[in-house]
Amino acid sequence: MQEFTLEELVELIEAHAGEPDEGELDVSVVDVLFQELGYDSVQLLEVVSQIKARYGLDLAEGILAEMRTPRQVLDTINELLRSRQHDGMGNGMTVHTSSGAFDLSHNDASSLHAQQLLLLACGGRLARVVYTLAELGVADVVADGPLDIDTIAEKAGADAVSLYRVLRCAASVGIFVEGPTRTFGLTPLAEGLRSDNPNGVLPLVRYNNIELTHRPFDEILHSVRTGEPSFERTLGVSFPDYLSANPEVGRFFDQFMSFWSRQFVEEELEQYRFERFTSLADLGGGDGFFLAQVLKRHPEMSAYLYDYPSVVAKAGPLLEEFGVRERVEIEGGDLTRADVPAGYDAYLLKAVLHWQNDEQAEGILKEIRRKMGDNAAARLLVFDSVLDPGNAWDHGKFLDVDMLVLFGGRERTFDDWTALLRRSGFELVGQPNVFHWTLLEAKPV
Ligand SMILES: C[S@@+](CC[C@H](N)C(=O)[O-])C[C@H]1O[C@@H](n2cnc3c(N)ncnc32)[C@H](O)[C@@H]1O
Repeated sequence: MQEFTLEELVELIEAHAGEPDEGELDVSVVDVLFQELGYDSVQLLEVVSQIKARYGLDLAEGILAEMRTPRQVLDTINELLRSRQHDGMGNGMTVHTSSGAFDLSHNDASSLHAQQLLLLACGGRLARVVYTLAELGVADVVADGPLDIDTIAEKAGADAVSLYRVLRCAASVGIFVEGPTRTFGLTPLAEGLRSDNPNGVLPLVRYNNIELTHRPFDEILHSVRTGEPSFERTLGVSFPDYLSANPEVGRFFDQFMSFWSRQFVEEELEQYRFERFTSLADLGGGDGFFLAQVLKRHPEMSAYLYDYPSVVAKAGPLLEEFGVRERVEIEGGDLTRADVPAGYDAYLLKAVLHWQNDEQAEGILKEIRRKMGDNAAARLLVFDSVLDPGNAWDHGKFLDVDMLVLFGGRERTFDDWTALLRRSGFELVGQPNVFHWTLLEAKPV
């Protein structure tokens, strides 16, 4: 069962009401009146609003009067969580059973549908609500503390009545919290929409809501019925051509890719052990940012960079900026038809094969294998998503649907990867450390 703990309460009090007047907030003060600890009712109301948002609880007006000590808060909240569980409205139900069926024995199926299935099925609408709040920068507006709706609307450039309705909808699922007198503040989920949050999801929210991704998803039924992508069908041109024709979207897409690829560069570089190689072909290497980081650390290494012409067009100045341009041969084209150069120690495909269906991926890999010839020391480095099998949560399962709809590509399980590599003339070297994004190193066989 869900339980609201003293540690959580302390964390919320310290974050939203500050430190006590004296001493520490710990088990020793669990029965001391909040008043004696130096907290007033406005501060406590804010803490209660946070609890309400975190657990999606519907707390009655006046409940504060029953919660005069930390223990009373814990007891009241846990009692509410318990009764919600018994009503079948909680999240504590067992969804997976050994028989594979849904166990709804402790749940009333109609309320489960109303709350959970409906929420998921209306997710598209909720995504637009989140997108709107992200575009208006509401999380930044209330970054220093809750504000009333008129002030938020003025700062965000929105109509106060409409913004109130959209914020109220978001707050019903824990994104922002409505406090007294139509004020709104941040919640842990809303923190993810702040522009100064390095772990925030603003670029992802925007990416998922612009025409580039949104329109093809209108035709997801087509993709699922036929197995074909819906990009060209809805937008009339291929993905790279769309980006070239819409330079503003192209710039945003580049920034979005950079946002992901630049986040983990240090960790990734460690894994590849590039010091083993004197030459590297980065296929689908984008604007060359990752390659530039490799070359900067390995001054003896020479390289080859390949991507669509419109993409590699941006690589020259970037490689120049990192002082490695003269060591890189750049070529533009379509990888599924490329004549990959022979003679490189390592061939890298980083987040590229998931754009391809199995036939295309196999074609690219076989071309690399051909060019490795009889150089048994040559290595293929594939960095891509490895899907969690079964019902486990994995963001890759969403990305997989993206790949289907946008490119006709796919994410792969470990078994899928092993089979694809084998069919293409490769064998895995060692046992990869499988995370969501995984480095698969293979040798020619
Ligand atoms: C997700 S990005 C990864 C970029 C880069 N490897 C990185 O990790 O930062 C995928 C890249 O593959 C390129 N790509 C996908 N399919 C391609 C194809 N058929 N021909 C050329 N480039 C392709 C895209 O243009 C894009 O730059």
